[in-house]
Amino acid sequence: MGGGGATGVPAVRLTDVSKAFGGKSVLSGLDLVVPVGTSLVVLGKSGMGKSVLLKHVIGLLRPDSGRVEVGGVDLWAVSARERDRIRRRFGMSFQEGALFDSMTVGENISFPLRRHTRMSPAEVRDRVAECLELVRLPGTEAKRPSDLSGGMRRRVGFARAIALKPEILLFDEPTTGLDPINTDALVRVIQHLRESLRPTAITITHDLKVAFSIADRVALLESGRIRIERSPAEFESSDDTSVRSFVRGDSSLDEEAVPLEVSR
Ligand SMILES: Nc1ncnc2c1ncn2[C@@H]1O[C@H](COP(=O)(O)OP(=O)(O)O)[C@@H](O)[C@H]1O
Ligand SMILES: [Mg+2]
Repeated sequence: MGGGGATGVPAVRLTDVSKAFGGKSVLSGLDLVVPVGTSLVVLGKSGMGKSVLLKHVIGLLRPDSGRVEVGGVDLWAVSARERDRIRRRFGMSFQEGALFDSMTVGENISFPLRRHTRMSPAEVRDRVAECLELVRLPGTEAKRPSDLSGGMRRRVGFARAIALKPEILLFDEPTTGLDPINTDALVRVIQHLRESLRPTAITITHDLKVAFSIADRVALLESGRIRIERSPAEFESSDDTSVRSFVRGDSSLDEEAVPLEVSR
C-alpha cells in the first residue's frame, strides 16, 4: 500500500463504545477502525443503531462509555469549539438531502461556504459549479429542490456535503426509497466522488448491491456491535450465520432468483 492509510492514524476509530436510550442498549462495546481514504459500508437491520453509530462518529451523540477518535483526537476530550472544528472535516448527507426548499439549489450548496469561509462571491460561485459537476448536475443552480426528482435531490445533498472539501464523507441510507434506476445513478455518483476526491467514506445502507459497489470493507452491525467486517468478496462468501441470514433476507441481489414458494 505504501500510502500509510492502513498503518497510520485512522480517520475514525471507535473503541468500546456503548450507548443506551432510556435504559435500552443500542451500542454495546462497539469497536471500529476506518483507515484514511477507505470506504466502509455498514449494513444492519432497521433499528439496529446504524444512524446512532454515524451520529457518534461525527460527535452529535456522546457515548455513555468508550472513545470516539477522529484523526487520533478523542472527540470528548476536547472543547466544544474544537469538536465543532473537527466536525467540519466531515461531509454528511442525510436521507432526502434535508435541503432548504425556500432556497435554490445554488443557495443550498453555497450555504456552508457563506457560513464557514471567507470566499468571495466569485469563488463561491465557482465552487458551487464544481460541486454540481461532481454530482453530475451541472448548471442546475437556479432550480428549486421541489423541481427535482428524489434522486436528484439526494445528489444536491451530496453537493452540499462536499462543498467544504471534507476529508470524511458520511452517507446515511443514500439510496433508500429510490427506484433501481435512480439507485444505480446514485451509486455511480458515489463512485465518481470517491475517485475524484479520494475521501474516507462511511456509508450506511441495507442494500447489499449498493454496499458491494462502493465498499472496500463491509461491516455488519448487530446487537450493538460490529459482528463481522470483511472485504466485499469475503463478506458475500462468509458462512457466518448472521451474514447468511442478512444476505438471504436482502432482495436487492435476487433479481433473477425465483423463490420456490411462489405459486400463481
Ligand atoms: N435520540 C434518541 N433518543 C432515543 N432513542 C433513540 C434516539 N436515536 C435513536 N434511538 C433509538 O435507537 C435505536 C436505533 O436507532 P437508529 O440508529 O436510528 O436505527 P437504524 O439502524 O435504523 O438507523 C432505535 O430503537 C431508536 O428508536
Ligand atoms: Mg437509520
